[in-house]
Amino acid sequence: MEKGEYTVFGYGSLIWKPPPHVVRKTPGYLKHYVRRFAQSSSDHRGTPEFPGRVVTLIHADEWANFSDQDAFPHEDTVWGVAYTIDPAHAQEVREYLDYREKDGYTVHKVDVYGMVDGAEKVVLEQATVYVGKADNPSFVGSEPLDILAKRIYDSVGPSGPNKDYLRALSQAVKELAPGSHDSHLHALEIRVDQLESEVQGARS
Ligand code: BEZ
Repeated sequence: MEKGEYTVFGYGSLIWKPPPHVVRKTPGYLKHYVRRFAQSSSDHRGTPEFPGRVVTLIHADEWANFSDQDAFPHEDTVWGVAYTIDPAHAQEVREYLDYREKDGYTVHKVDVYGMVDGAEKVVLEQATVYVGKADNPSFVGSEPLDILAKRIYDSVGPSGPNKDYLRALSQAVKELAPGSHDSHLHALEIRVDQLESEVQGARS
């Protein structure tokens, strides 16, 4: 990253809803992190009465403390997009993104990896990332998959149905890295599709 450049790594809604004033998009992945629907959402994909669930990042070592039933298969990778912002608008975009702090997300730095000429390399050093850490009030940690899927299926907030967020994320990751694995996303999508079929079956 060049001096003064502002780069933000999106691993959630930023993948399909990029920030403004992007001058470069660098697809890449993180190492040693898991992406989990472990953050409650009461003003985007749910309500204060019935919060939805959105993704956050948790260091893989730390995740072991939150779940003994949700392992982190080694082939799972957190793919996302690093956006380099036009320096003339860096401050404005930083302020625009920092509103996420009210949802419990805090700013961190990560190295973003990619494959270059068949070898793994850091493609961007120290990109900004928004993480809902385990000590923030919206962190819910690990929930049994069926319960989590039902919560996502049922929740709706000002930004739309929670299940649309799950599907948009899953679709965006598939397009970004077609051969990649994300067992948590995949398993949730299957469960939510099953719930939808059951409800449609019961109606017909
Ligand atoms: C993201 O896409 O990286 C993201 C979006 C909202 C809050 C935190 C992260």
